[in-house]
Amino acid sequence: MKQTKTEKAKELYSQYIMNTYGTPGIMFVRGGGVNLYDANQRKYLDFSSGIGVCSLGHCHPAVTEAICKQAQTLVHVSNLFLNENSPELAELIISKTFGKGKVFFCNSGAEANEGMIKLARKWGNATGRNEIICMDNSFHGRTLATLAATGRSKYREGFAPDMGGFRFAKFNDIKSVRAAITSKTCAVMLEAVQGEGGVLPADPEFIKQLSALCKEKDLLLLFDEVQCGMGRTGKLFAWQNFEVMPDAFSSAKAIANGVPMGAFVCNERLQDVLMPGTHGNTFGGGPLATAASLAVFRTIYKDHLLENAGETGAYLRASLEKMIVKYPFAKAVRGMGLMLGIVLDFPAAKILPLLRDEGLIALSAGETVLRLLPPLIVKKEECDKAVRIINTVFKNYLAEEKKGTQE
Ligand SMILES: Cc1ncc(COP(=O)(O)O)c(C=O)c1O
Repeated sequence: MKQTKTEKAKELYSQYIMNTYGTPGIMFVRGGGVNLYDANQRKYLDFSSGIGVCSLGHCHPAVTEAICKQAQTLVHVSNLFLNENSPELAELIISKTFGKGKVFFCNSGAEANEGMIKLARKWGNATGRNEIICMDNSFHGRTLATLAATGRSKYREGFAPDMGGFRFAKFNDIKSVRAAITSKTCAVMLEAVQGEGGVLPADPEFIKQLSALCKEKDLLLLFDEVQCGMGRTGKLFAWQNFEVMPDAFSSAKAIANGVPMGAFVCNERLQDVLMPGTHGNTFGGGPLATAASLAVFRTIYKDHLLENAGETGAYLRASLEKMIVKYPFAKAVRGMGLMLGIVLDFPAAKILPLLRDEGLIALSAGETVLRLLPPLIVKKEECDKAVRIINTVFKNYLAEEKKGTQE
């Protein structure tokens, strides 16, 4: 019998692509808004946004138009020359955050954090300090420096030696951060909502005290906004939910809605730390990615997507909270805006294929958390549909569990 397109792709994938993700089972061929379509044209509701990337939904017309127009005009010039988009984008980012400061553009989340770490070290080394305090349970990327900064040690297994210069403190525990400070500490880096760690929001009091502690000890406060940024929590950047001003933050994932891009952004105090020759990359800030990103930022404001993330996020959360009451294995709903997690008492990965069979794409996080990252354009009806699917899968799971205990 003739192989289907998906079977052929699976065969080539398992033969030629390094097995770091396992061989995926579904091949998506098309997307539009909150929906994805597989090779058989089956429709799925995408509550993962490609792990927090396609936050305006798939193939948003404004982003598609910007990419097509730019692709017909100029795709790449080196950073030895100006392009029309990157200065405008940098101005926009600074105007929505620090008011005064500078941006460095790169290509991914790990690269953005890596650059932010270099920025902090360069600043700290001027006073003989270069250690960064990171949080237990954090995730900052897969490069050697960002792995060393990652609190979840399972990601580091097999890649010894760890790069030095990082110490760890307990998330949401100010005493633990204070205890980790040494004469070498120059910065504290954290996610305002830990994503991979299990959709765990920072405690507002902790962030307030952390900001005061950084001021007291002259430490930089650095936020990793790769997953929780770009409107996901109802503010453009998650740190803006707290009444603090960091010194720098990183961004990636949703910054260009799927065109690979990252950035780190600093305040006026740090803006001249990295000078010619100290940092760079080939693709960062190129005309194509920055055209897409400009379209993302403009759409977020034109279509009031921050408000939607807040309002629809609250609606989804309330619906989930109401629904899980029936299921003893579902312990709580947590998160911020449209970054939500259902805490289960078993590995969430078990439930993902069952949800997919019912037409819902979701994610796991921190082992037992079912993570939902719908696009910021999501409507209440689509949330209702997702909750119905989760309810069906939970109901079947509970029935199976009961059957198992009776046998
Ligand atoms: C908070 C956080 N930081 C950094 C990264 C790494 O980003 P990338 O995969 O683009 O390198 C991720 C990816 O999941 C993340 O969630």
